[in-house]
Amino acid sequence: MSFLKISTFVLAAFAASAACAQTVKIGFITSYSGLNGNLGPYMERAVRLYLKQHEKELGGVKVELLTRDDTGPNPDKARQLAQELVVRDKVNLLAGVIFTPNAMAMAPIATEAKVPFVIMNAGTSVISTRSPYIVRTSFTLWQSSYPLGQWASKKYKTAYSLVSDFGPGHDCEEAFSKGFEEGGGKILGKVRVPLQNPDWAAYLQRVKDAKPDVLNVFIPAGKTATAVMKNFSDLCLDKAGIKLIGPGDITTDEELPNMGDVALGVTTVHHYSAAAERPANRRFVEAWKKEYGAASTPNFAAVAAWDAMDAIFQVVRAQKGNIDPERTMELLKAYRNADSPRGPIAIDPETRDIVQNEYLREVRKVGGQLANVELETLATAVKDPWKEMQKKK
Ligand code: PHB
Repeated sequence: MSFLKISTFVLAAFAASAACAQTVKIGFITSYSGLNGNLGPYMERAVRLYLKQHEKELGGVKVELLTRDDTGPNPDKARQLAQELVVRDKVNLLAGVIFTPNAMAMAPIATEAKVPFVIMNAGTSVISTRSPYIVRTSFTLWQSSYPLGQWASKKYKTAYSLVSDFGPGHDCEEAFSKGFEEGGGKILGKVRVPLQNPDWAAYLQRVKDAKPDVLNVFIPAGKTATAVMKNFSDLCLDKAGIKLIGPGDITTDEELPNMGDVALGVTTVHHYSAAAERPANRRFVEAWKKEYGAASTPNFAAVAAWDAMDAIFQVVRAQKGNIDPERTMELLKAYRNADSPRGPIAIDPETRDIVQNEYLREVRKVGGQLANVELETLATAVKDPWKEMQKKK
């Protein structure tokens, strides 16, 4: 064989193998900067850890992650990034997204382009109704705040609600108030504060003057949660006998060391705690610490991304890397895992939202470190309560 013939043969063989080696492209949009820009990296770390542990199970199919920074709650930016990823980069899937307004802006693009969109955080109930191509592996605020309101009504007579003035805050306020009032509690006041840099002292003084038994708070997890905690203590709301409660966003695991002892005793309801004793969680946290250092801890954004990757891997395996949007949605709707780090989970095929347990937790010291200690499973296999209620209307 002449040199030319050999090289042509080698090239042809190379081209054939390249064509066989499928690559699944995931357009991953999250927040690496701006408000709560600390959350995006938790999502990405979970995705990369999952890829590292499991990529060999894909039979040669490669997963390519195209990461983009939506710069915080910025729907225009998120829409533009999603458009580019779909049109120019031809991604097979969209994934990620911390903030509700961004997910809402991306929904029409998923629909028009028929690109399955796996939401790993954004938690306002209505989002998943905005595109048949959305599946959500995170949570809704209704899932945590409605059982929280019911629980609180059994222990306390009066409550005040303070939430960030955007989708998930509105959901938290409505869900908590409904649960609390149905149980016989009285809401003394509701306040919605700006998403960015609210004047905490002014709002919390108003709460203090109203003298409720409990204050229910939702703010986006991360540094904002620490700001609330510090102001709550500086203004002596704790000493005035007001108990701070909320969905788990206010005691997000990675911020506990920054909050300090003011967080002790804060009671929350949520689907994930890094301190949970479940063996699947112990394995997850151990692998995380091995990869990212003993001081690093996964949080609820990380577990949503981890479980999302598990669902995506099932889809990729079942289709041997040839992602058909309709088949992908069928597979995602049937996804379940009895052994997620957060306990048993499933996707509700009717709503494409996650079904999961909600745990009552209290911040306590474990081995000298603050931890969200799970006290009891408050509700099992919880479907998004808002959608369940809409059905009955
Ligand atoms: C949301 O925008 O839906 C969101 C953001 C931060 C959270 C929870 C929900 O902690």
